[in-house]
Amino acid sequence: MDVVILKDDAAVAAEAAAIVRQLLTQKPAAVLGLASGNTPLATYRRLIQDCKQGLISFRDVTTFNLDEYIGLGAEDPQSYRHFMQRELFEHIDIDPGSTFLPECGVGEDPLAIGPAYEALIRSRGGIDLQILGIGQNGHIGFNEPASSLRSRTRVKTLTRDTVEANRKYFDDPLKQPRTAITMGIGSIMEARQVLLLATGASKAEAVRQAVEGPVAAMCPASMLQMHETVTVLLDREAASRLELHDYFEWVAEQKRLLLDSRADA
Ligand code: F6R
Repeated sequence: MDVVILKDDAAVAAEAAAIVRQLLTQKPAAVLGLASGNTPLATYRRLIQDCKQGLISFRDVTTFNLDEYIGLGAEDPQSYRHFMQRELFEHIDIDPGSTFLPECGVGEDPLAIGPAYEALIRSRGGIDLQILGIGQNGHIGFNEPASSLRSRTRVKTLTRDTVEANRKYFDDPLKQPRTAITMGIGSIMEARQVLLLATGASKAEAVRQAVEGPVAAMCPASMLQMHETVTVLLDREAASRLELHDYFEWVAEQKRLLLDSRADA
């Protein structure tokens, strides 16, 4: 795991956007895995800015979101489809037909969505770069603690804590869904590159478990330790409980020195 500790939320977003920019420069028809929630918002704003300035284009990009609530239609302001439209897709030059979420329309069988979604991801060549946030309980996507570390895209019941954490987004608690369709941990692990973002003190314990704890279903994000190409971008607060904090900063310093010496050569 490449753990990078940055000053603040803005620095995390700048670095995350730079990684996406680099991918799109090398591979304009890249397949991106996206997350909703608060954490990637600043990154999406950077990407919108980059796109408006002509630094990158999403014209040939395909996106797959991690998850979607069951029971909220695309027009519902609380649905992740609506969130993605509002926070990213409407502001960039992406083809709306190339943006996918594991949505379960009225009358559709929720159990059939997962396998179909995975087949669609495969048909587009798989995910090049998966952006992830992390829940306070260590979830990635809606893979709550005790999810199988090899799970596939499927229906998942949210924990009471996750429902509570997301309550602020719902005016009427009775309309807040308790189930979602989420990419599985096994599905996420197939992405060629993973970018985990975490900001704020409320994520510090989950980050510690994910980065330094044992690989365990009780902290789904810990499975990322088994992925070959993971970058973890943290602000100081989210990194505050890392035992290896100083080591990660030392690594970053050595990398900088190495890059500088190559630039001088
Ligand atoms: C969202 C998702 C979740 C969030 C996580 C953190 O698509 O899959 O795993 O990334 O709940 O949410 P925020 O960023 O709102 O703290």
